[in-house]
Amino acid sequence: MALLVGRGKYLLQEEIGRGISGITYKAINQTNNQVVVIKTFASVSSQEDEASDIRKKFLYEARRLLECSHPNIIPYREFFSEDGVPYIVMNYIPGKTLDKIVLPNSPLPEATAIKYIQQVGNALKVVHDHGFLHRDVKPQNLILCEDTQQVVLIDFGIAREFSRGLVQTHTSLVSDGYAPIEQYLPKAERTQATDIYGLAATLYTLVTAQIPISATLRDHLILNTPQQIRPELSDKISQAIMKGMALELEERPSSVDEWLALLPETSGNGITELPITPEPKMETESIDSNSLVLDSEEMVEVVEQTSVQQPDKQNQLWKIIAIGLLIFLGLDYIILKMSDRFKDAPSQPNVTEQRLL
Ligand SMILES: Nc1ncnc2c1ncn2[C@@H]1O[C@H](COP(=O)(O)OP(=O)(O)O)[C@@H](O)[C@H]1O
Ligand SMILES: [Mg+2]
Repeated sequence: MALLVGRGKYLLQEEIGRGISGITYKAINQTNNQVVVIKTFASVSSQEDEASDIRKKFLYEARRLLECSHPNIIPYREFFSEDGVPYIVMNYIPGKTLDKIVLPNSPLPEATAIKYIQQVGNALKVVHDHGFLHRDVKPQNLILCEDTQQVVLIDFGIAREFSRGLVQTHTSLVSDGYAPIEQYLPKAERTQATDIYGLAATLYTLVTAQIPISATLRDHLILNTPQQIRPELSDKISQAIMKGMALELEERPSSVDEWLALLPETSGNGITELPITPEPKMETESIDSNSLVLDSEEMVEVVEQTSVQQPDKQNQLWKIIAIGLLIFLGLDYIILKMSDRFKDAPSQPNVTEQRLL
């Protein structure tokens, strides 16, 4: 394997995953120094003609995946084939896969698990709307992004379908515990309900920290309900998981939306699980960005009010002094006028006298 791929554009740095169909690397895009992830696939067929056809089809299908753009779907950047090997380039998501967070014994609170599963469900709806199936929904293919706290769906099964020639049996491409029975039967139908099984089984693991028994064993062994494992779980979540994991495809809800509707309502942010005793409200503890804006506006108002209070008092004092002065001057004027009148009073007859004269 060359260290440089994509005509020297990408430098492969570190192997971060190795599956049955290929290897996943962390790499650097040398044109802009961005960290990316590159997945490669081993030779798809020993017959060159067939291999070439399969590669073309793979690249065509892979490009269609670019249309599936959603915050919870891994952003693919590029697909190419070099020296007969197909490559997929995608964004690097910093964080852990959900299996690393939950297993072996750290089940998530019910509401947190539902929040994550709703994000994956929304991603799957986009995938299904574009006519794809993921075919391998499981905690190992879900990265909790440490920057956004969003769960990102990776590792689309399209590659796996094309790598089928590689392996002895179809079953070795199936993820035990998360794959419905139809995925063990090469000719059986696959529908959206195939992904619903994987999604429900993923939720099973998130809330119980246990991997469900394989669908192939369920004829002989009874699958414990999530509530049997963790009695504090709600009836609703336990029943929704079991419905999504119905053995027969026809007994599962036929769309992701229909299955998501069976889940219990959460309080919005998905973190609240226990009833919360209301705490005294603190102005600064606002989650809603609108109310944060309001809070800051209110603060500005308060600041403005306090900053004009002092000059107001001084103004009032000046007003009182000015009014006092005016009253004083006014009184002074009246007194002066009165005294003038008294002075002029004896001379009045003189005027009359003068006229009379
Ligand atoms: N885009 C990515 N960002 C970060 N890590 C990734 C990314 N894609 C895959 N990985 C890591 O590599 C592992 C294997 O990748 P995956 O595509 O699931 O291949 P496979 O399951 O076929 O080996 C994942 O479980 C994850 O830990
Ligand atoms: Mg994987």
